[in-house]
Order: sequence, then structure tokens, then C-alpha cells
Amino acid sequence: MINFFDPASDKSSDLGTPARDSEVQVSLSIDGRAITVPAGTSVMRAAAMLGTSIPKLCATDSLEAFGSCRMCMVEIEGMRGYPASCTTPVSEGMVVRTETPRLAGLRRNVMELYISDHPLDCLTCSANGNCELQTVAGQVGLREVRYGYDGANHLAEKKDVSNPYFDYEPSKCIVCSRCVRACEDIQGTFALTITGRGFESRVAAAGGENFLASECVSCGACVQACPTATLTEKSLVQLGQPERSVITTCAYCGVGCSFRAEIKGDQLVRMVPDKNGGANHGHACVKGRFAWGYATHPDRITKPMIRKRLEDPWQEVSWDEAVTYAASEFRRIQLKYGRDSIGGITSSRCTNEEAYLVQKLVRTAFGNNNVDTCARVCHSPTGYGLKQTLGESAGTQSFDSVMQADVVLVIGANPTDAHPVFGSQLKRRLRQGARLIVIDPRRIDLVDSPHARADLHLQLRPGTNVAMLNALAHVIVTEGLLAQSFIDARCETEDFARWRDFVSLPDNAPEVLGPVCGVPAEQIRAAARLYATGGNAAIYYGLGVTEHSQGSTAVMGIANLAMATGNIGREGVGVNPLRGQNNVQGSCDMGSFPHELPGYRHISNEGVRAEFERAWGVTLQPDPGLRIPNMFEAALDGSFKALYCQGEDIAQSDPNTQHVTAALLAMECVVVQDIFLNETAKFAHVFLPGSSFLEKDGTFTNAERRISRVRKVMEPLAGKADWEATVALANALGYPMNYRHPSEIMDEIARLTPTFRRVSYAEIDRHGSLQWPCNDAAPDGTPTMHIDQFVRGKGRFMLTGYVPTDEKVNNRYPLLLTTGRILSQYNVGAQTRRTANVAWHDADRLEIHPTDAESRGIHDGDWVGIGSRAGQTVLHAKVSTRVAPGVVYTTFHFPESGANVITTDNSDWATNCPEYKVTAVEVVKVFQPSQWQKRYQDFSDEQQRLLKERRTAEKAEVRR
Ligand code: SF4
Ligand code: SF4
Ligand code: SF4
Ligand code: FES
Repeated sequence: MINFFDPASDKSSDLGTPARDSEVQVSLSIDGRAITVPAGTSVMRAAAMLGTSIPKLCATDSLEAFGSCRMCMVEIEGMRGYPASCTTPVSEGMVVRTETPRLAGLRRNVMELYISDHPLDCLTCSANGNCELQTVAGQVGLREVRYGYDGANHLAEKKDVSNPYFDYEPSKCIVCSRCVRACEDIQGTFALTITGRGFESRVAAAGGENFLASECVSCGACVQACPTATLTEKSLVQLGQPERSVITTCAYCGVGCSFRAEIKGDQLVRMVPDKNGGANHGHACVKGRFAWGYATHPDRITKPMIRKRLEDPWQEVSWDEAVTYAASEFRRIQLKYGRDSIGGITSSRCTNEEAYLVQKLVRTAFGNNNVDTCARVCHSPTGYGLKQTLGESAGTQSFDSVMQADVVLVIGANPTDAHPVFGSQLKRRLRQGARLIVIDPRRIDLVDSPHARADLHLQLRPGTNVAMLNALAHVIVTEGLLAQSFIDARCETEDFARWRDFVSLPDNAPEVLGPVCGVPAEQIRAAARLYATGGNAAIYYGLGVTEHSQGSTAVMGIANLAMATGNIGREGVGVNPLRGQNNVQGSCDMGSFPHELPGYRHISNEGVRAEFERAWGVTLQPDPGLRIPNMFEAALDGSFKALYCQGEDIAQSDPNTQHVTAALLAMECVVVQDIFLNETAKFAHVFLPGSSFLEKDGTFTNAERRISRVRKVMEPLAGKADWEATVALANALGYPMNYRHPSEIMDEIARLTPTFRRVSYAEIDRHGSLQWPCNDAAPDGTPTMHIDQFVRGKGRFMLTGYVPTDEKVNNRYPLLLTTGRILSQYNVGAQTRRTANVAWHDADRLEIHPTDAESRGIHDGDWVGIGSRAGQTVLHAKVSTRVAPGVVYTTFHFPESGANVITTDNSDWATNCPEYKVTAVEVVKVFQPSQWQKRYQDFSDEQQRLLKERRTAEKAEVRR
């Protein structure tokens, strides 16, 4: 949906102060017109609701009113003076006048003072035409500045251009403090402050001389709030004001922020977080807000390529040739090695429609169920664990639900880095007084952040989540903290009794398991009491729970805790997996697992299969196909020979890199569809150029089951969106696909998936977004699940015996390595490494506790070799007390870091999700890269050369 862009439209929808929710209604009159609004509403907002725009500078409806600019004065009968309408709440019978000669004069006076200290370069200013100061000057009818421009002023103040994405031009600052309040109230970073008093007041980045050196995390909330050109996106300065906008969804993390992509010609000017976004309400993080330049990065490959052998240079070919070649290879290999010798991987970066098509292609055109997705290596235990206990493989709440939580338990997640917009919302709730328990081997920011501090940080040893959850359950049961009436009414009685007896065993007491976890028993008891008795208690968890040999057990342990305390089925509580990638929920929903058809229905179910067979016109195989790790094993055994991999970089993201690359090398045809020559593509025989989220229509589903539209901002650089490439491949394989638009794919999904039955593009457009289940029983979607009963009927407590991982420390490998993400980079880094985000994080580093560093003679910045049973790599050390002694930590955003060279093949017993979070290692000081890194560099250089030769050939062609 493309709208003609009206720069005023967003501002005019600014009602000045936030909405109030009250059952008490208040009636008043404004300029002779009657209006009734909820009690607590400001006079300014009430006027705006009538269509009366009172001039304002320091007020905006995303922030609480501050009342500093005095521009919004009104007259109120019975009140002395001229109260500020932004800070004055309505009252019954109030009579307000917003326009009188006296008010007009006063406002002009105030505006004159502002303008006398403002550079009058409107014609060349980047905000020209979209500046609130300019608009208000016009609104109040300013015609002259009687004070002149010669007095004391700030016009010569120096610009701060240190931030890669926005500039701070203090000469234009009117000290309205909107930026400071946005940083505090919306982002929760408190990076800005007003220094000085009166005329000397200035905005300053706290904790640093400039924005880049400060604590600023570059979320852009201050830029968004600034009414002048003081804080402005560099892209806007370069490209000028946009002409149109498109509402779309961020393609980074599972928060699923909604954005207004603002465009000029065919160039994206900026991404502005959408106030109507159900997941983000107008906020964003540095990735979605600013790190979109990768979409047009020169590294983008926009022509299909093929080659016979990995040693050959790439040949650019037409789409037809590439697709025909891939199809003929798939058929050749199936003829030679059998139907099951090929498979596909769907992408959690791509849309629902694209994931659906890839699994459909595998099940129809390939004729097997060898399809899997990257959720295998992240949240597959969530799918399994929540299905077993609650009956549905998804989180139970909306993000907004956290605003009703009294106690928040964060386990194995780092929201301020990995889910930053939710992290900000959580911090807001903590500032309002909610209590926080963090269970994590690392001191994440939430443990101790500005104005929000964890009540308890249980810094457990990696690999002991299940022991911890059992110890918490033990306290809840043995101290009589169970929500017995909830359990009696809502849960399976026998399963509960079995679980109760199990967790009550003395072996599960904190005094026994505390030492296993490395956490004092009293802390565990305190956490259990707080969670069970502190009011509404919500659990948020991430990959620190799932990526373990007992990942599924831990998920079930979490669901058990929620059921045992009655913390499920309403706002403010629940079990909330923080999904990693933008569409990992969606790719799972779409039937990307080898054992499930869309909607999590088992492939062995005859009735379900029959439904799909009728719709798809094929006979489906009744047995589950290969999971990703099984595909690797089969490749090494010689029985799996070809792979269609869409938008997934298994060579970097999957564990035990050397095992993965050996498997890829063993295949005869690897087809990679991606926007860059990623690590996997270096092992490919066919490269199908992918499309970024800006180049296609579709939907993403976020961690709250929220289905949001992705809308095309620009034409696909390679000529085809990803779904079109899959359609072409299916047709080349002889299985007809005839979709003209992704909306038709969604219509098919809705027809075949009970939880999506009422989903359509028209319905999503009507609601803004929809949370599934969305069907006849819930036509407007389902923000909170399991309200009256669990999806499976009665909740099922599952036994969660703690089985220590096989990955144990010993004399040779005495430390435990755990991994995680950092705010500025994203996952394998293919996108963020190609943006200015490298200003914050240009390499992965190994965090090591000072004690462990000292005993090894390691100093901050030293090169250190990290060796595990799987392999070795070398990183720079960062000596830090964020990790406990005995634990080291790294991010995994750079391929040359080889973080997954070290991680092992261990995996979750139920789902094969790799045990990324626990690897026994030794760390030593070294002076050169590891053998693997040298081999990697050589191979990578060679592949880049082969890619460049393709480019040279292209130029030669042009010259001829
Ligand atoms: S960009 Fe975000 S974190 Fe940085 S100063 Fe602005 S609001 Fe604060
Ligand atoms: S930088 Fe912008 S938002 Fe901040 S005080 Fe100055 S004018 Fe207001
Ligand atoms: S929080 Fe996630 S979805 Fe939102 S802007 Fe950041 S990366 Fe994008
Ligand atoms: S807008 Fe009300 S005082 Fe500034």
C-alpha cells in the first residue's frame, strides 16, 4: 500500500499528549464545541481530538507532557492566567478558548524569543517543509523578530557528526527536552541530559564527549522526537525530504517492529518507526531504524549464477537457465540416488509465503519431507516443549502484556541486546516498580541498568537450567506456594500429581541443586517465592534456554512453573519465548519442519495429509523427512546429495562448522538463494539472487504470533522476489505453481491452516496486524492464549529430570564457553556487517573473567586461542566481570571468528537443537590465527576471486 507522502500527516496525527484510559468520562467545551474524553486527558489532546491544533513545541503524544515551551497556552474560564494546555487535565464543565487575540500575542512573543536564537537557514535546512518550529511559527503568524539576532546566542555551536546515522546540530536546538525524555521514557537508556540552566541550558550526551562515545545505543528515539533539525538522520540530509511512504515490517529480530519506509524517487530515505505498530508503538532499535543500507550494498549479487565444480568461476546466466539447471540436477540426483537424496531449507528471514512455498515445493515437487528450517538450531525446543505442556507451539502473550506484570523472570535471554524494543518496554515496566529475576550465566545489562535493576541475579553455570527450574519448582511445591485451584480446574490431575511428587524429592531441593548450578540455595528460594507470590508473574526466555542438550526439558520446566503458580491465561503473565529471527515463528507455523504440515499438524495424520493432498494434487509421504543435522549425516554417508537452501547460512550458523562444510562438500548440487555470497554459497553450484525485505510483498510473524505485512518499497534488484524464484523452480521441476501475488499464497495458507482461517491481506490491512489463532472463533486474532482452557484442553505437567550434559569440563578443557548476541550486530552478521553498525562492534571478542585471564597471562586485547573437542579458533580477549570465573563468552557475528568451529554436535534430545550454549574449552594466549582460520581465509579468498572473475567476464561482455 503506497501512500502519497504528506510530511504533515504524521505530525498532524500527533495529539500532543498520550491517551488516557479511564472509565470516568469528562465533558467540556473547547472554542464552543462540546467533547467528552476519558478523565486525565489533557486539554491539548481533547482539542486535537476535535481537530483543533493548539501550537506546541515541547509536547508530543509519545511522551508525558513537560510544560516548558509555553507555546500551548489557553484561556480557561474560572482559571487565572494562561495555563499550558499540555499539562492541564480536562475537568467536568470546563470552558476552554484556544484562540484569542491575547493568546495570539503571547504565543508570538514566545516564538520571537525562540527565533532570535535560531539560524534562519530554512531554505537550506534538511527539515525544511517538515519542521515543527517552522510550522508553529507560521501557525502563530510570526512576521517579525523585534529582539534582533545580535544578542547572545548559540548559533556558532559545533555540530556533532560522530554518530554514523544522525547528526546533532546544537545551534538549532530549542531545548524542549523532547530528546532527553524520549531517551529516558521510551528507550530507557538515559544517555542524554540537559546541562546548564536558563539561557545556558544545552543538550549533552552523557558519559561521553560526543554521541558515539556516549552511552547512546543509537535507537533514534531522540531523532524521532526532535521538533527541529537539531537531531537529523544523515540520510535525510543527503537525500532530502521524502515524497511517499510505505508501511512495512523490520526484517531483523522477532520483535517485528512496524516502520514507515520513506522514499524519494526509488531511493529509501529513512525508516521511521510506526506509531501504530502493534509490537513497537513507534519505537525501534539501531538495526531496524538505521541499518538498512545492506539492501543496496555493492556486494549484492543480482544475477543468477551456476558452476559445475566449486573450483570453477561462477557463470552468470539468465533466471531460466539457472532454474532449469537446478531442476535438472535435482532430477538427475533423484534418479541416481533415490527420491530422498535431496531436500530443502526454508528461511526465517523470508516471508511466511516464501517459507510456505519452499516446504510445499519439497513435499510436492521433490516428493519427500526433507525440509527443515533454522528454528532447528534455535527455538525447535519451544515448539516441542510448549506443544507437550500447553498444546500450542508458540508464546502465550503480546509484548504489551508485560505492562501488567508484577514480577518478570528473564531466563537465558538478553532482551536489551537481542530484542531491544521489547527490552525498552520491559525496562519501562521495571521503572514503574515491577520486580525482576534474571537467570543467566552472564551479567546482562538488565541486571544493572539505569533506573532498572534486577532484584535477583541467579548467575548459574551454563548447562544447568533444568536443575535450576526443578529447584525453583521444589520450593514452590514444598513451601505451599502452588495455585491449587488453578491446577485443579485447568490441568491434568495425574500428570500434576506425578510432577509434584517428582519435584518434591529431596534431590531437587535448592540445597542439593544450588551447588550444581553454582547458585546459593537461598537465592533460589528467594526467586521461587518472588515468582510464586509477587502478583502477576511472566517468564521471558530465549536461546539460553533452548540451545542445550535439555532444551526441550527446560521449556517444559518453564511451562510447569507457569501452570503451578497459575501464571498463564491472562494479561501480565505467561510463557514468552523471545524468538530470534524476524520470521522464525512464521517459518515454523508454515510447516517447515520435516514432521509437520502448516499449523503444526503431524505428517503422519492421515486426515490432515488427505486435506493437503486434495489441495496440492499429489500423494504425500507419511513419514517425517530429514532434519538439518540428519541431512549433514546423510550427506557424509553418501545418501543425501542435493540441497535447496533459501536465505539461510548453515555454513556459519550451524554448530561444528567443519562437519557442516564437509557435508556441503559431499553434495553434488547445492542451490543457495541469498542476497550475498554468504558462507554457504561458497559451497554452492547454483546461486539464485535473493530479494531483501524491501523488494517484496508478504508477511512476517513475530514472537507474539503477530502477522504483519511486508510491503514492497522497491522492485527486486534481481528481477524476482524470492517467492517468484521458488515458483519458477517448482514449475521447472514439473509441479505447477501459478501464484500472481503473495496474497494468493496467504489465501491458500488460510484455507489449509485452521489457526490462520480468517487471515488475509485485506484483514491484516484492516487491523494493522493479526495475532493467530485468527479464525471463526477469534476473527480479530488472539493476543493472549489459553484464557479459559489450554489449547490441548487441560494443561499437562511434564517430568523434567535433570540430566547433566555430556559436555563436561576437565583438565584439558576447564572452562565453559557460552555464546550470545550484541545489539548492533545481527545473527551471522551478513546484513549488519555491511552497515555502519561496525562502528560499535567490528569483531567478535572473547569475554573472560579477570581471574581466568590472570592465571593464563592474558590481558585485555590479547589474541587468545580457544580450543574445544570440536576445533580451535582465535579471538581477541576482553577481560570482563560480566562472566563468572570458569565461564567465557563470545558473540558469533563474524564468519572469520569461527565461533561454531568450537561448538560441538551435542544437541537437544527431543529436537536436535544444538547445544551452542555449553562448550568445554581451554583458552591460551596465542600470536596467530588458528589453522582453521588460515584454511578458511584461503578458501574464502579463492571463492571471492572466482566471484570477481565472474564480474570480469561480465565487463568483458559489455566491452565486446
Ligand atoms: S539514539 Fe536513543 S539511546 Fe541514543 S540518545 Fe537518542 S534516544 Fe538515547
Ligand atoms: S535536540 Fe531537539 S528535541 Fe532535543 S532539546 Fe533540542 S530541539 Fe528539543
Ligand atoms: S527491535 Fe527487532 S524488529 Fe525492532 S527495529 Fe530492532 S531489530 Fe527490528
Ligand atoms: S507544548 Fe505545552 S508547554 Fe510546550
